[in-house]
Amino acid sequence: MSKKTLTWAVLGVGQISEIVAPAIGDSDWAVPYAVASRTLEKADGFARRHGFSRSYGSYEAVLEDPAVEVVYNPLPNWLHCDWTIRALEAGKHVLCEKPLAEDMAECRKMISVSRQCGRSLMEAFAYRFHPQTAKVKELVSQGCVGELRLIRSSLGFPLDFGRPNVRLEPSPGGGALMDVGCYCIHVMRYLTEEEPQAVLGRSLGVPESGVDLTFGGMMVFPGGCLGLFSGSFRTAPDFQLEIVGSRGRLLVPSPFKPDPTRSALRLEVEGKTRDVPVRNGGNLYRLQVDHFSRCVLEGRPLSLPLEDALGNMAVIEALRSSSRTGRETRPVLDG
Ligand SMILES: NC(=O)c1ccc[n+]([C@@H]2O[C@H](COP(=O)([O-])OP(=O)(O)OC[C@H]3O[C@@H](n4cnc5c(N)ncnc54)[C@H](OP(=O)(O)O)[C@@H]3O)[C@@H](O)[C@H]2O)c1
Repeated sequence: MSKKTLTWAVLGVGQISEIVAPAIGDSDWAVPYAVASRTLEKADGFARRHGFSRSYGSYEAVLEDPAVEVVYNPLPNWLHCDWTIRALEAGKHVLCEKPLAEDMAECRKMISVSRQCGRSLMEAFAYRFHPQTAKVKELVSQGCVGELRLIRSSLGFPLDFGRPNVRLEPSPGGGALMDVGCYCIHVMRYLTEEEPQAVLGRSLGVPESGVDLTFGGMMVFPGGCLGLFSGSFRTAPDFQLEIVGSRGRLLVPSPFKPDPTRSALRLEVEGKTRDVPVRNGGNLYRLQVDHFSRCVLEGRPLSLPLEDALGNMAVIEALRSSSRTGRETRPVLDG
C-alpha cells in the first residue's frame, strides 16, 4: 500500500511557526513529529502545545533524526539558505518560508542542492493555495476586466520598533521589500504570467542599519501592464490588491491572508458592480501543508516551482539596485 502521510519537523519556535504548527496537525497528509529550538525548554513547550512528539535543543538534532521526512524552515531570512541546504543534504524535503533566500546566488545554490539530492523544496507563499487566489486568477484569465493594464498592491503594518525583530536586522534579508514587498511582486508576476522588463524602486525611512522600512516599486510588464506596489512597516494595516483592465476592475480584500470562512471579490465592469463569492477555503497554511505533502507523496510537481522563487528574487534584486542608483533597472534571470 502506498504511503499516506509524511512526518514533519519545525525549525525554531517563532511567530509563524506557532501559526503553521496547527496546520501541520490538521492536515490529513502530515504528521506533526519534531520541533527544534536553540532553547530546549522552548521546544518542549511548543511540542506540548501543538502535539509534536519530539523536541530538540538544536536544529542539527532534527536533521539527524531519520524519522523526519519534511522540514519546515521558518528561520530568519539570513538562515534560509544554510539550514535548507543542510536539511536537503540530510535527505529531507523542505518547505522554506518566503523569501526563499537573501539573493539570487543563494536561491541558485538551494535549487541545485534540491535537484542533486532529489528532494522537494518550495517557497512558502501560502496565499497561492487559497481558493480566493484561484478565483482571482480565473476571473483575470477569462478576461473579466478586459486586457490587463494596471495592478496596484500594498502590504503594510505598524511594526513595534521598541522590540528586537528579525525584519530589522542589517542583512540583505532584512527590510520591508524582502518581508512584505515580495508578496506584491509575486502576485503581479502570477497574474500577468510575465517577468517585468523594467523596474523602478525607492526605499524610505532607512535607519542606521540600512534596512528599508517602506519600499515603493513600479514594474513594467512586456504585455503592457503596469505594476505599482508598496511594502511598509510604518503604516496602519494595509492589505490591497486592485486589478484594472481595459473594461473594468477587480478588488480583492485581504489578498495575502484570505478569510478562511468567507470572502467576496468586487468586480466593476462597464459601470456595473457585483460581488463574486469565493468558496470556503479553510486555513491557507493547512492548504499549503496539504499541497506540499500530497505532491511529495504522489510524485507530482509542486505548483510553486523553484524557477518561480528565482524569478521573484531577480525582481527583488533589480528593485534593490534601482533604489540604490535611482535608475530604472532590468531584472536579469540568467548569469
Ligand atoms: N508566510 C507567512 O505568513 C509569514 C508570516 C510571518 C513570517 N514569515 C517568515 O517566517 C520567517 C520567520 O519570521 P517570524 O516572524 O516567525 O520570526 P521570529 O518570530 O523572530 O522567529 C524566528 C525564529 O528563528 C529562530 N532563530 C534562529 N537564529 C536566530 C537569530 N539569530 N535571531 C532570531 N531568531 C533566530 C528563533 O527560534 P528559536 O529561538 O526557537 O531557535 C526565532 O524564534 C521569515 O522568513 C518571515 O519572512 C512568514
